[in-house]
This record gives sequence, C-alpha cells and structure tokens, in this order.
Amino acid sequence: MTLPQDSAALADIASHIHPFSYNQRMHKTGFRNYIVKAEGVYQIDSAGKRYIDMMAGLACVNIGYGRADMADAMCEATKTLSFHPSFWECSNPYSSRLIEKLDEITPDYITHYLFACSGSEANDTAVKMVRWYWNTMGKPTKKHIISRELAYHGANVIAGSLTGLPPMHERYDLPQGPISHVMAPWGWVNGVGVDDEALGLKAAQAVEDEILRLGADNVGAFIAEPIQVTGGVIAPPSNYWKAVEAICRKHDVLLIMDEVVTGFGRLGEWFAQTYYDVVPDITVMGKGISSVYFPVSAVGLHRRIGEVVAADSGEFYHGYTNSCHPVGAAAVVKNIEIIQQEGLLQHVNEVLAPTMWERLHAMASHPLVGEVRGLGAIAGIQLTANKETREFFPEEQEVEQIVVRHAYANGTIIRGLGGDVLALTPCLTTTVDQINMAADAIEKALDLTMKEIGR
Ligand SMILES: Cc1ncc(COP(=O)(O)O)c(C=O)c1O
Repeated sequence: MTLPQDSAALADIASHIHPFSYNQRMHKTGFRNYIVKAEGVYQIDSAGKRYIDMMAGLACVNIGYGRADMADAMCEATKTLSFHPSFWECSNPYSSRLIEKLDEITPDYITHYLFACSGSEANDTAVKMVRWYWNTMGKPTKKHIISRELAYHGANVIAGSLTGLPPMHERYDLPQGPISHVMAPWGWVNGVGVDDEALGLKAAQAVEDEILRLGADNVGAFIAEPIQVTGGVIAPPSNYWKAVEAICRKHDVLLIMDEVVTGFGRLGEWFAQTYYDVVPDITVMGKGISSVYFPVSAVGLHRRIGEVVAADSGEFYHGYTNSCHPVGAAAVVKNIEIIQQEGLLQHVNEVLAPTMWERLHAMASHPLVGEVRGLGAIAGIQLTANKETREFFPEEQEVEQIVVRHAYANGTIIRGLGGDVLALTPCLTTTVDQINMAADAIEKALDLTMKEIGR
C-alpha cells in the first residue's frame, strides 16, 4: 500500500471514486500501487520498481505500452484534424482509412460498423441494433436478450444488465429490461462428473431451453463472450460454440459475440469467432482495437443486418459525439498495422502461448492449484482448498489476492478474480524471457501464499 503525500495524490484519494475498488479501505490505507510510467510490457511505480504486466492493463494493451509509433500517428491526427463528427453524412480521411483497415482484418460477412468509446457503450449499441432490426423487420416482440451467468459485458445500465455477476446488479436495480441469464459452460463447477463434450451440449441446451421457455417469437438475441474472462476465465468445451450457433439459427435468434477481450489477437487470430468457426450477427469490439491508446469500441454488423440498415431511407438515430473520433481512428489503424507488421498473431501462436502454457501446465501440480485453463494469451489458474473435492476457499480469505500481492512484490502483475481464480492476459508482445520471469514470480507467490495461509 502506498499512502501518497503530495497534494494532487491526496486529492485523488479523497475525492475520486475509483472503479471496482474498496474506496473506504483506500481512504485509510492508500493506493494499492502508484504507477508513474509504463513501457513495453512493464509498469514502473513511484519508487522506480519495474513490474511485468501480465494483465496488459485490463486485457487491453495488446501491443504494449508507451509506443512512439502510436504517439506519432495520434499526434499527427491531433494536429491535422483534432475533431470532426461523423454525423449528418460527414466524413474525413481518418474515418475512411479506419473502415478500410477494419475491413482488411474482419471476416468478410462483417459489412458495416458503428463506433463508440467503450465496450459497455458498444454492447449498449448492440442491444439497440437488435431492437432496431426486429422492429424494422416487423417482428417487434423479439426483444428478450439471453445472456449467461458469470458474463461480463460492461457496467452501464444495459451492459450491466447483460453482465451475469450479482454484485453488478445489487444496489443498482439491475438487470433492467427483458434480459435473463443461463448457465455458463464452467467446467470447474458445472462440469463435475461430466465429460467436456457433455458439458458443452448441456450448456448449449440451456440456451435452447430458455428460448423455448420464452418463445422464440419473444427472443431477439443471445449474447456471449467467446471466452468468459472476468467471470473466471471460462473457455467453453470445443463443441459448445457450434451447438449454440445452430440453436440461434434454428430459432432465428441473433447471435452477438462480445469480442471486447478476445478480438485483435488474443487467441492468435484476429477474432475468436474464426477460431471457433462461428458466424455471429453482431460482433462487439473494444480494448485491443486501439490497445487503449485512445478509447475506441465498435460494433460490426453481419451483412444480414448491415444491409437492412444501409437500405433504410430514414435518418439513423444513434451515435455519440466521439463515435469515430479522428484521433481514435488513427490509433486503431496504427494499432492494426503494428499487429500486422510485428507478426503478433504468429508470435502468440508460436512463442507466447506455447511458453506460457508449458509453464502453466507445470504449475497445475502445485498443491494450491486445481486446474489451469484458457486458450492462447488468455489463461486462468484455479486455486482450490482441496483438489479432490474442488473446495473453494472462504470468500473473505481472498486467497487469490494473497497470491496477487506476493506476485506483485516479486515484480509481476496478475489479476485476482472472485472464485479463487488468477487471470493472465499478457501483452501480445511479451517475450519468452518475460513470460519465464513472470512464471517464476507466480510460482514463488503460490509457495509464499501456502505459507501465509498455513498449509
Ligand atoms: C467481454 C467484455 N465486454 C465488455 C467490457 C466492457 O468494456 P468497457 O470497460 O470498455 O466498458 C469488458 C470489460 O472488461 C469485457 O471484458
């Protein structure tokens, strides 16, 4: 903990309601860390100590921190056209280049795009597009959205409602709107005594059961992350996605894939949907689209919807001041160029993921580790009080936070999730040596945690 002394930091601690923080604790004991600089895959704190960031910020800094090439591209855009709205049939070269670049890397069936500034806004936009589409198609009863338990889709009223984490609902009167949540393909809990394939079918069947319960005429869409990261790093069994896709098609329910985390290289492909060979109607993008050098998110529409929007003769009443901001557009284009030029998809497939998974599989035999799971550059370490019975630690013990603290003291930033899970979502530029240094620190942190909790 760092209790700052300078007046600006004191003002921050006193008056800034920090997101997803125990603000009262922070007021008493100070910040958990105070980072003054970041470069490459490292964050550097106010004491000059360097940390390998195995979280890539919030699974978003795909190309690494502090890049001069990004700064130059954004600086050029700022000096040339610091703002221009894309409202009222207006455009500019930054917007045009953005569309051309996105078209180069998205699957062919994504024909149209809308822009926003956060994953939450993009998910809100996706839900509005579901409503717009079914109203336009003369099926106004198709409004219900099916989401999943443990889903994370963001924090605004609609995205927070789609999110399937109870603390996100309590005290906010959420979920709001016709939204329900079905089981997640969460093997650690829902897969006990069931093989992977059976779990995949069972979880997909839960989607169909909910459609049948509500009546397909009332269901507009099913929304899901290809891999649930915030909810516990839940990578579904390999048969799950094809089964879900078939169910959505059968009942004419739109499929929204929230690729805010999985998009832009995390699975060694531009999008997880191509990895799983699934064609969604709506693709939600954020985070890695710009590696968060500028807040940008997007919604990609399948031709099926895009052409209906394009053919509509009326005004399209949706958009934000900052939709397709020129500086953000320049950031996205440069970010994609960097991923291409530096071969980062190949790096994930051939270097980063194999190294990380070799180390993680070795960690699975640690007495505190129940299993390791995930795919590509998304990994979860499930801690457990008992490997045989899959017992959870008492929630108040926050065992994952103890490991996070020790890893941090050893120069490595990892994320602790509820349910005794540690998450790793490194920058896609992370090298073999850096992965090995981080893995050493995590192993040491697991040993120190054992000692601390008296095992
Ligand atoms: C899958 C997914 N969707 C949406 C969001 C929300 O994005 P934002 O925090 O930019 O609103 C997140 C954020 O972590 C996410 O993981």
